[in-house]
Amino acid sequence: MNYSRSIIITGGAGFIGSHVVRLFVNKYPDYRIINVDKLTYAGNLENLRDVADRPNYVFEKVDICDVDAVRDLMHRYDVTGIIHLAAESHVDRSIKDPFLFARTNVLGTLTLLQAAKEYWDDDSRDVLFYHVSTDEVYGALSFDGTLFTEKTPYNPHSPYSASKASSDHFVRAFHDTYGLPVVISNCSNNYGPYQFPEKLIPLFINNIRNRRPLPVYGAGENVRDWLYVEDHARAIDTIFHKGTPGETYNIGGFNEWKNIDLIKALIKVTDRLLGRAEGEDMNLIQHVTDRAGHDLRYAIDATKLSKELGWKPSLQFEEGLEKTVKWYLDNQDWLDHVVSGDYQKYYKEMYDGR
Ligand code: NAD
Ligand code: DAU
Repeated sequence: MNYSRSIIITGGAGFIGSHVVRLFVNKYPDYRIINVDKLTYAGNLENLRDVADRPNYVFEKVDICDVDAVRDLMHRYDVTGIIHLAAESHVDRSIKDPFLFARTNVLGTLTLLQAAKEYWDDDSRDVLFYHVSTDEVYGALSFDGTLFTEKTPYNPHSPYSASKASSDHFVRAFHDTYGLPVVISNCSNNYGPYQFPEKLIPLFINNIRNRRPLPVYGAGENVRDWLYVEDHARAIDTIFHKGTPGETYNIGGFNEWKNIDLIKALIKVTDRLLGRAEGEDMNLIQHVTDRAGHDLRYAIDATKLSKELGWKPSLQFEEGLEKTVKWYLDNQDWLDHVVSGDYQKYYKEMYDGR
């Protein structure tokens, strides 16, 4: 088959990446989608069982910091687009091991940029490097109702957000210095199926089903803006196809929740879907030592994306939360495999010896 485009999606075995891979593989049968993932603890090919055998899907187990391997992929697949999601993504881990975050998020991004620049030098085709970033680069807001816009100055606080901010700067530098066609998007907190149960929502669903304590950092007053992951994947599709090179787009749900309020809503939905009395598990809440440097509030202004490119979130939060809890309870095998580590065997069964 002659594909109209060959697109690398990095981090495709992770949470958001798997939704982006699924969307592109299904929606664009004329694109060859190359999922490039190192399969760290966060990479799980079980997330992509339903598309693993599609003719337009390829998996490549590659570390984005390995410049020779990335150069080889660019040539072998004649790549014309990169959607870059691979990263270390968990703030708490970044506090414990900041060097790993600098390696993957900064040097990994720089490696991909360099390989793309070399391969696309003088390329007259429609090529694009799309960097997926986070609202955390903008720092923390107070409770004054202000929102992050694309013009908000960068002010990262955690090693994770500092590494993402640095990678964003390198992406812009490659545009401004070498003319590499790039777009960047900065998104708020995602939730939905296939999220690694170290992040708030899947961790708490897993703990509620097992009647384990729910560790709320500090008073639980911090605010996050939540977006259903499939809406993020749709936004990435929109920006990849309609965005203007050199531009940045904020993506968010206009959906701010104080942690403690979200946790109480989550307990009620989970209890109900487990057939327990609604709110029965409120006693699992335990206030624990706050996260170091815990950002108080994030809130995204996604007006530019909606006005210029016509994207809007499709789900109300209550609907999205119900759908999410239902998914984890219907897919307890997935949760059990991740918690036990069995998911890492799947790669061996599927791909070793191929
Ligand atoms: P995730 O941790 O679930 O997945 C990351 C993926 O990257 C994994 O599959 C992992 O194996 C892969 N990876 C890590 N290091 C690699 C390396 N050196 N080479 C190749 N692959 C490697 O992350 P996520 O939550 O899906 O986030 C994806 C991207 O979106 C990240 O860039 C993150 O900063 C950004 N983002 C996430 C959120 C969110 O709420 N989760 C919000 C905004 C932006
Ligand atoms: O804003 C986008 C970011 O959202 C992404 O860039 C990150 O990759 C993603 O991990 C997420 O970062 P957060 O730190 O906001 O997500 P997390 O799920 O870790 O925490 C959400 C909030 O809940 C935060 O205020 C910390 C709090 N929390 C988290 C955990 C894991 C708790 O109170 N208890 C917990 O056990």
